[in-house]
Amino acid sequence: MADEPNAQRAKKLYIETVGCQMNVLDSELVVARLRDDGYELTDDIDQADAILYNTCSVRQHAEDKIYSALGRIKNLKREKPDLAIGVLGCMAQKDQGAILKRAPHVDVVIGPGQLGRVPELLARAKAEEKPQLAVSLARTAGGRDRVTASFESYDADREPTVRPSKFQAFLRVMMGCDKFCTYCIVPSVRGPEQSRSPDAIVAEARLLALQGVKEITLVGQTVNSYKYKTPDGRTTRLSDLLARLHEIEGVVRIKFITSFPNDMTDDLLQAVRDLPKVSRYIHVPAQSGCDEVLKRMKRLYTVALYDDMLARIRETIPGASVSSDFIVGFCGETDESFEKTARLLERSRFKNSFVFKYSPRAGTKADGLFADDVPEDAKRRRNHILLDLQAAISLEDNRGFVGREVDVLVEGLSQSTTRKPGWDGPDQLVGRTACDRIVVFPGPAGLAGETARVRIDQASAVTLFGGLAQEAAERPA
Ligand code: 5AD
Ligand code: SF4
Repeated sequence: MADEPNAQRAKKLYIETVGCQMNVLDSELVVARLRDDGYELTDDIDQADAILYNTCSVRQHAEDKIYSALGRIKNLKREKPDLAIGVLGCMAQKDQGAILKRAPHVDVVIGPGQLGRVPELLARAKAEEKPQLAVSLARTAGGRDRVTASFESYDADREPTVRPSKFQAFLRVMMGCDKFCTYCIVPSVRGPEQSRSPDAIVAEARLLALQGVKEITLVGQTVNSYKYKTPDGRTTRLSDLLARLHEIEGVVRIKFITSFPNDMTDDLLQAVRDLPKVSRYIHVPAQSGCDEVLKRMKRLYTVALYDDMLARIRETIPGASVSSDFIVGFCGETDESFEKTARLLERSRFKNSFVFKYSPRAGTKADGLFADDVPEDAKRRRNHILLDLQAAISLEDNRGFVGREVDVLVEGLSQSTTRKPGWDGPDQLVGRTACDRIVVFPGPAGLAGETARVRIDQASAVTLFGGLAQEAAERPA
């Protein structure tokens, strides 16, 4: 049929996603909608009928990358006037019409709360031959209910084929954020905090399990603030939700990211301890180890509270790993305040830390109130210091695994750079332990999606290396 002159060629979609897990999930949902609309995915941008960028606004660098990508495809649009170009997600919500001014070849600008409308808006841009803009209300544009309603949820559609791995899926449990940390653009671009109904979440998890998903990662900007009140007055907390999801057959691992320190309640820690499918891993950003800086960031906790929270995690959940985010060079961060951050990082023994140089964001409180007064070279130096400290800690703690056996949920073939040093045999598998450590080991590709017992014999700061425990036992000593 494909040879018939009138047969319709499937439209080709090229999509690039930057930013957090929320964006990865959003892209999956957009692709699901567009598949229904006759699109198929392509990796080749030159073949595309539609090019979409799902964008991030958290730092300037992420935005710069998108504007240069848009610059690079200007000629493509000139050669193929039918090509549709879209800017989706956080940058669309933040910059709105300014994107069209800077890149007039863009056809649709669609905020994160409007993504369910991508097919309709692409079609309308073509029919009306003019760019379409769909964004949600600003946080100050009306009452909370109106603003919240302008950020739609459309999570019912799932598209397994675009997931990074067919055994793993993200599942949104809440949207938006109400914390308003002074440096952060997220509350403006992702809207008010809303928890989804537990029934909807459980139904979606069941669907994912039927699609073969083994590991579900619950995502929310402050996931442990999850709270859902049913009309009969009962409240479902994240711990209750974990207990319900734990019952689902086929799901073997459940994670949740990202947590907020103040909301780390004991019931949640006990749920992580008591539910064997729940990963013993908590990502709970400290951002800084200095009280004055935390106050300027409006993080709502002190260093003492963070230390105490960490102690509760360690006490309640044996073998838990914790990871953190840090911002270096935030407004007014002195050498002394940075030193305090370095000490917090040292004593906390995080599994890993994500370190970011402060990037002022227009529209945030910090941008209006404080000067971005830490020079770029000091930001860079502090960034390296924290990363080096963390690498030494990660290496030391990872070495503690050498000689031990761990259960690894196998994700698939290891692509890459993480090959065991000196290994020149066949491809290796990659997976994670229950405490979220990456493990690379040789084994058959058919183990993907299974849990394997692996004996660790080598460690780097980011990866544990080993072999299947059974094989190790069968090998002559
Ligand atoms: N500049 C640098 N880093 C930032 N983050 C959020 N906003 C900014 C900013 N303006 C970091 C925080 C957050 C992570 C996702 O990004 O550490 O936890
Ligand atoms: Fe941004 Fe703070 Fe909300 Fe995290 S908790 S998304 S850093 S405002």
